[in-house]
Amino acid sequence: MQSKPTLETIFNHRSIRKFTQQAIPEDIVETLIQAGQAASTSNNLQCVSVIRVKAMDLREKLREISGMSYVTECAEFLVFCADFSKHKALMPEAQLDWTEVSLIGAVDTGIFAQNVLLAAESLGLGGVYIGALRNHIADAAAVLNLPQYCVPLMGMCLGYPAQDPQLKPRLPQNLVCFENQHQPLDEQALEKYNEVLANYYQARIGEKQIWQDAINKTLNKPVRPHIKAFFQQQGLLKR
Ligand SMILES: Cc1cc2nc3c(=O)[nH]c(=O)nc-3n(C[C@H](O)[C@H](O)[C@H](O)COP(=O)(O)O)c2cc1C
Repeated sequence: MQSKPTLETIFNHRSIRKFTQQAIPEDIVETLIQAGQAASTSNNLQCVSVIRVKAMDLREKLREISGMSYVTECAEFLVFCADFSKHKALMPEAQLDWTEVSLIGAVDTGIFAQNVLLAAESLGLGGVYIGALRNHIADAAAVLNLPQYCVPLMGMCLGYPAQDPQLKPRLPQNLVCFENQHQPLDEQALEKYNEVLANYYQARIGEKQIWQDAINKTLNKPVRPHIKAFFQQQGLLKR
């Protein structure tokens, strides 16, 4: 299997939302999951499960739940779950309802999934995360028959790219990396970034959006307020 070097892969990342019809060979899918499993994991808890959704009727349901058409248009659709059901079965007295346990699960799941995406990109595939599954997280869990102590955190569409989008500019490094102690927002640096970002969006969607628009769109309203109750229903996040 021929893969691109790590940094080349990392710095060429952009989400891919349009795919060719080409299937991903079985040995590559296996390698991708193996790459996820190779990631660091808190205390070796290995609390991540992946559901590879092959059945098109289930994919249709997840497409409806997420509102993302590419869920049915990609070669592979994976759902990454924080999954403590094995731990509970092996140790019924395990205290899984602490907030920290859900944090462990979320962090490990993100790390696992990113290993999968990077491995995929290094092999010439493209993909995009589907956090929108959490718009109706209980419905997504029901479609996937998830047991107690298991929550679906994000999906991932994977396939061979049928588009070649521009890289999305990131914040300047001095806004995200501080020496010794946190620093107040450097407004001038942000303004410069916004000029670059506005030009990127102008070319991509014909509209000059700035970084604050993303904050506004996402955080200026109740943020998936049903999540807490769902986690609690699954036996998590009670204290
Ligand atoms: C956890 C997570 C969830 C995401 N969910 C979605 C999603 O539901 N739909 C979508 O089109 N993109 C989704 N994205 C992709 C982001 O919009 C994208 O990564 C971001 O805008 C940066 O663009 P880039 O990946 O092309 O660099 C998600 C990304 C992450 C990390």
